[in-house]
Amino acid sequence: MNRAMTILGIESSCDDTAAAVVRGTVGAAEVLSSEVVEQADLHAAYGGVVPEIAARAHAEKLDICVEQALNKANCSFSDIDAIAVTAGPGLIGGVLSGVMCAKGLAAATGRPLVGVNHLAGHALTPRLTDGCAFPYLMLLVSGGHCQFLLVRGPESFSRLGGTIDDAPGEAFDKTARLLGLPQPGGPHVERAARDGDAPRFPLPRPLLDRDDCNMSFSGLKTAILRARDAVIAEKGGLTEQDRADLAAAFQAAVRDIFVEKTRRAIALYLAEAPAVPVLAIAGGVAANQSVRIALETLCAENGVRFLAPPMALCTDNAAMIAYAGLERFAAGQVDDMSLSARPRWPLDNASPSLIGSGKKGAKA
Ligand code: KG4
Ligand code: ZN
Repeated sequence: MNRAMTILGIESSCDDTAAAVVRGTVGAAEVLSSEVVEQADLHAAYGGVVPEIAARAHAEKLDICVEQALNKANCSFSDIDAIAVTAGPGLIGGVLSGVMCAKGLAAATGRPLVGVNHLAGHALTPRLTDGCAFPYLMLLVSGGHCQFLLVRGPESFSRLGGTIDDAPGEAFDKTARLLGLPQPGGPHVERAARDGDAPRFPLPRPLLDRDDCNMSFSGLKTAILRARDAVIAEKGGLTEQDRADLAAAFQAAVRDIFVEKTRRAIALYLAEAPAVPVLAIAGGVAANQSVRIALETLCAENGVRFLAPPMALCTDNAAMIAYAGLERFAAGQVDDMSLSARPRWPLDNASPSLIGSGKKGAKA
């Protein structure tokens, strides 16, 4: 099917309620609207996402979100060709809220229903933003996910490696907590790190001795805790400079891990001889300038184009779900009312599952 299609997307797998309208064809679509209602305030007091609170908030906000997305896109249901919804992986209550909402809308309007893997949404974003050709390499780094994906087609993903424990965003958030900085911690740690002296605290770079693309971040959190406690034991507290130095040391370690493992992922990817090699990044941690610059340099050294979609499309959103739905729908794939919500849904069933699970749920 190569005619232009208009797809409504719905996303509710974590702590953002989102709806969007995307119009176009495979590899050439535009975002007509993308609404995201954050829940950060609701979870702030608990130091992490509370699944029951998240699910309830999604159920309350989804219909308003859909209505706003349609209004902003200047569309009604008669303009919509299909309804795409995140069917996993994620917090099951939230995913269920979205799937139920999409099923209700599909039943009421007679529009086809298309279930989408949330990770496929992230992984296909470079096709939405830049019409990126297959195969490309994707580094997905967020509060819940961390993996290298070789994207060969809309439903063909090879996971080259990923975290074996925490996601990097979680490690940023935990580090912020240890340093007394607000949540979500990533941007605050980055800001503090600007004036910091990273070499003051030599931190480990786990798994760099292993010739694979797997990463580990939980030991880094512990190392920061120890370094912080040693300073407090010595001086009775942390100065602004201590905070900056600890933040800089942590960020430098994360950046070094990404660079070394990405170097290996690029080598595996280039072995496939892609015509126009591309490394794309997505996820909240992709906002980190130090990480971006380091990866951009690495790509330039290897003749690989570095692609960072706009932040609003890097973090959780429904435009990526609508677009991934468009790819599936264009290939003639639709779901029926038996579509189920899946807490776990690996993109690459051939790769062995990586151990571990983070505060935002199980890693796919
Ligand atoms: O993709 P995202 O918005 O949401 C999910 O994880 O689903 O990612 C959020 C994560 C948080 O852990 C946050 O601390 C981290 O991304 N983050 C950053 C930065 N901005 C957000 N980490 C490092 N540096 C940043 N500038
Ligand atoms: Zn996500």
